[in-house]
Amino acid sequence: MTDNGSNAMWGGRFAAGPDAVMEAINASIGFDRRLWEQDIRGSRAHAAMLAARGILTDEDAEAIGHGLDQVAGELAAGRFAFSTALEDIHMNIEARLKDLIGPPAGRLHTARSRNDQVATDFRLWVREQCDAAVAGLEALQRALLGQAEAGAERVMPGFTHLQTAQPVTWGHHMMAYVEMFGRDAARMRDARARMNECPLGAAALAGTSFPIDRDATAEALGFDRPCANSLDAVSDRDFALEFLSAAAICATHMSRLSEELVIWSSAQFRFVALSDRFSTGSSIMPQKKNPDAAELLRAKVGRILGATVALFTVMKGLPLAYSKDMQEDKEQVFDAADTLLLSLAAMTGMIADMEADPAALEAAASAGFSTATDLADWLVREAGLPFREAHHVTGALVRLAEGSGRDLPDLTLDEMRGVHDAITEGVYDVLGVHNSVASRTSYGGTAPDQVRRQIARWKERLE
Ligand code: ARG
Repeated sequence: MTDNGSNAMWGGRFAAGPDAVMEAINASIGFDRRLWEQDIRGSRAHAAMLAARGILTDEDAEAIGHGLDQVAGELAAGRFAFSTALEDIHMNIEARLKDLIGPPAGRLHTARSRNDQVATDFRLWVREQCDAAVAGLEALQRALLGQAEAGAERVMPGFTHLQTAQPVTWGHHMMAYVEMFGRDAARMRDARARMNECPLGAAALAGTSFPIDRDATAEALGFDRPCANSLDAVSDRDFALEFLSAAAICATHMSRLSEELVIWSSAQFRFVALSDRFSTGSSIMPQKKNPDAAELLRAKVGRILGATVALFTVMKGLPLAYSKDMQEDKEQVFDAADTLLLSLAAMTGMIADMEADPAALEAAASAGFSTATDLADWLVREAGLPFREAHHVTGALVRLAEGSGRDLPDLTLDEMRGVHDAITEGVYDVLGVHNSVASRTSYGGTAPDQVRRQIARWKERLE
């Protein structure tokens, strides 16, 4: 603070300090303190570059370097006294640096603005989250692969409209999610590669008249190159939007898998038992074991998608370049990233622990006329019927079985021949669920051999 209460950083043109409400709405230090490590890294790289270009003396750069080490030590140890009056993490750190080293601290902000500073810090932070998401997704894929390998042959009902459709293998069902989470990881990698350009040196919006070296700072911070347009560098948050969008898609996938776990673990299905580690009990009903983790994951997509919509709404209609609106980017992304990583960890644990009940799965796979399509295909292949006629004949057989409370394999040959006389004993071969899944050998199909091929491919990729 200056004598008249105005801000020490920019109070030169101000006669009075801000209203308390202004301070409250303006400050971001309550949340952007999470960027402190990125902020210190950016400042170190900037100071080193300024010294290398002769913009700072070596003594000043050294003082700044030592001072930043000390500030970082305080922050890491939780000993840093954050100030709301100092608005954000950038000014908090710079003010503390000034306490510690005096006047050289004031030279750190040469050829820099908070606009390129925050854009750089935030990119560094989101980039780390992309890496963490990829690691979390790969762990989840490994857990799913473990399930797929254990149940490559296991039959279960495949559903459409949540009505029994055709038998599939457990391994195939697990591998469907391996594909989805594989694309989610690819989206995170793509987003990371695109965001890996350095805004530092764009300054407020127009670049700077100082002879800075943007390649040097970009390289020091692990970016592929500097952003090529200073206006773009400070004013876009599309990298955060991409991260959120990829996170929302991933959370949607987890929500669908969660819904399946909720259904499968119910007393009506009993396809799987979820472990005690990822379930809870009821305070009144002693028999209950609730799939809370799955339910929470089913819901978490709401937060992540909400954050995505919120940031899109912040960004739409913003003129170039920086506007304070963009300070509203951080809380959304922080919460979405935390939620995503926690969700991935919980999902991985649930999948790794989950125990399938092969007998229940097979019984359900056999019920509901699940091999009716196999019967129709048999009529086409073996009896030469056009598929439409075969469909009709099979429908009549299903009706016959259903009317007497039986399944298709329970019909006698005479009963079947009564519906169509081209049917022979051989038809029973395709009415069993194991034969059914084994016959689906088309690429990407549910046959155990196909599933094992995909398992092997993914295991190699994830090595
Ligand atoms: N706390 C600000 C933010 O998060 C930092 C940038 C401030 N820049 C400015 N011109 N006021 O966006």
